[in-house]
Amino acid sequence: MTRGRFITLEGMDGAGKTTHLDWLRARLEARGMPLIVTREPGGTPLGEALRQLLLDSHDTRNPETEALLMFAARREHLAQVITPALEAGQWVLCDRFTDATYAYQAGGSGMDWHRVAELERWVQGPLQPDLTLYFDVDPEIGQARTRQVRAPDRFEREQQAFYERVRAAYLRRASEHPHRIKVIDAARPIPEIQITLEKIILTI
Ligand SMILES: Nc1ncnc2c1ncn2[C@@H]1O[C@H](COP(=O)(O)OP(=O)(O)OP(=O)(O)O)[C@@H](O)[C@H]1O
Ligand SMILES: [Mg+2]
Repeated sequence: MTRGRFITLEGMDGAGKTTHLDWLRARLEARGMPLIVTREPGGTPLGEALRQLLLDSHDTRNPETEALLMFAARREHLAQVITPALEAGQWVLCDRFTDATYAYQAGGSGMDWHRVAELERWVQGPLQPDLTLYFDVDPEIGQARTRQVRAPDRFEREQQAFYERVRAAYLRRASEHPHRIKVIDAARPIPEIQITLEKIILTI
């Protein structure tokens, strides 16, 4: 049995991950690829419960606590869902994965980069996605796509600096893993991005 391919989609809110994931699923299914679609945080009952805690609570949290919860959910996701699917020959399309922990908890919130790397090694061993599509867009464009446009207040300007650090961390990951991570200019119109994606998926 040929092992399936593990493809992750990354990028900030409104970058287009879900839009392109739906399109990729349809393209790959049309080619007869057996596949599953999943997401992080989430993908298992435990992971979805942790997702609720992580995304809905407005408490200030230590970024290391967040990263530990992310990796706890990831361990479960790998053991219960991702690894069995890959071993059964299925392709796995995952909306966010470990690069997001580097981007948000290290880049955005200031957790030590190397600590994330230690958790990554511990939880994943040698497992890495075969391909990561990073949808790169100015955070303001992404946010404007998901909510009404208006002038940012002081809190949102601070948020702006956070999102710039998240973007810089994603770009650092891409420069450190140039073969795995494809940077896609997600400010372009959707049909143009689809042409780029079509070329990329033909090579894997
Ligand atoms: N390249 C694009 N040009 C214009 N609009 C886009 C583009 N990509 C996505 N959109 C639109 O932006 C909105 C957000 O896209 P989408 O939900 O795919 O983003 P996402 O990365 O999954 O965001 P989130 O992290 O919040 O889930 C949707 O309404 C989508 O149609
Ligand atoms: Mg989405």
